[in-house]
Amino acid sequence: MHSLMPTMDPIKDCSQLFKTRFKVLELYSGIGGMHFAIKNLPIDSYDLIAIDINTSANGVYIHNHLSHNCQQMERNILSINENHFNEWAIDLLTMSPPCQPFTRIRKLPKYILVENVKGFETSDARQLLIQTLSSCGYGYQEFLLSPNQLNVPNSRLRYYLIAKRGKQFNFNSNNEEFVAKPPDIDPKNLCSFCTNILFQSKDQNLRPISDYLENLDDIQIQSYLLPDKILSKYFMILDIVKSDSLSTNCFTKSYSHRIEGTGSVLQTSDHDIQEVCRQLNDCQTDEQKIVILRSLGLRFFTPKEISNLMSFPTHFDFPEDLTIKQKYRLLGNSVNVKVIEYLLKLLLNDCELKAQI
Ligand SMILES: C[S@@+](CC[C@H](N)C(=O)[O-])C[C@H]1O[C@@H](n2cnc3c(N)ncnc32)[C@H](O)[C@@H]1O
Repeated sequence: MHSLMPTMDPIKDCSQLFKTRFKVLELYSGIGGMHFAIKNLPIDSYDLIAIDINTSANGVYIHNHLSHNCQQMERNILSINENHFNEWAIDLLTMSPPCQPFTRIRKLPKYILVENVKGFETSDARQLLIQTLSSCGYGYQEFLLSPNQLNVPNSRLRYYLIAKRGKQFNFNSNNEEFVAKPPDIDPKNLCSFCTNILFQSKDQNLRPISDYLENLDDIQIQSYLLPDKILSKYFMILDIVKSDSLSTNCFTKSYSHRIEGTGSVLQTSDHDIQEVCRQLNDCQTDEQKIVILRSLGLRFFTPKEISNLMSFPTHFDFPEDLTIKQKYRLLGNSVNVKVIEYLLKLLLNDCELKAQI
């Protein structure tokens, strides 16, 4: 007897896919932000090769990621050729910035994730990347995303591309090209495994900056206070946040070294900033001004606090021999782990992702 019920296509369960042993190649690996995102995925096991030319970055990478399944190579990426790719048979390739995929590779990666600065989307390099991916049979989707959109109190607008061999993504963006916010995915189009992992990374509540701060003693705070010279010269252009703020500006590699547009500073006193500005107007001398400015207790965020705001795990750590400036530089070059994790989850599944923007 035939059933009168309409037949539904059962959605494949992607949990099996995440059980395969992935081979990952992390190009321009820096301090390993991409690798932390991979560690957050529910994949059972993977082997990873990380390549970067920078000795300090590699030191941090090894300090945090050294394990039997991870090989860190200090070398120039220009020395990697299609033979390496054929030998390694990579499943997932991550790179920031992109290097051109070799069209002659026999064993092309199944999945690719690219990160770059905002502006890359209008470059010739992006055009070439897209052409190469299309000619090699990849479906791809580009994004312009910032961690605030995933409830992280930090802005870091970046270009991202995810590409999958032989598959099309189905995000309906307004401008047909770039997805400028995390897509709203209908859980109906996901298997229960992917529903869990995708919605788990998106839905954490936005928490104030206080949740990301270190417990510093007075002596430590002193060492991060803005010097008088910076206070008097740059006060008007500082982005000042307080511990109850819900956002910070992007921290760049020049943080603390340069001031304009390199990242927020933290006000540690309770003074009303409007009132302070009024008092400044009434000052007769520079000495009076500096006393008022000091009363705000403005300090730089510590490298640890910045790594927290970039969604690095709490156990992330730097080797002892690095200076604070080197730490800022390396973090400023890195990625927000939560954004990468989210994009990898969009990339590494077999559900038909239909999304509305
Ligand atoms: C934007 S950073 C990437 C940071 C990385 N995603 C992270 O989480 O720290 C770019 C990296 O590319 C590396 N790099 C630049 N040119 C390179 C080359 N020709 N060969 C190898 N590494 C290179 C730099 O040393 C730097 O660490």
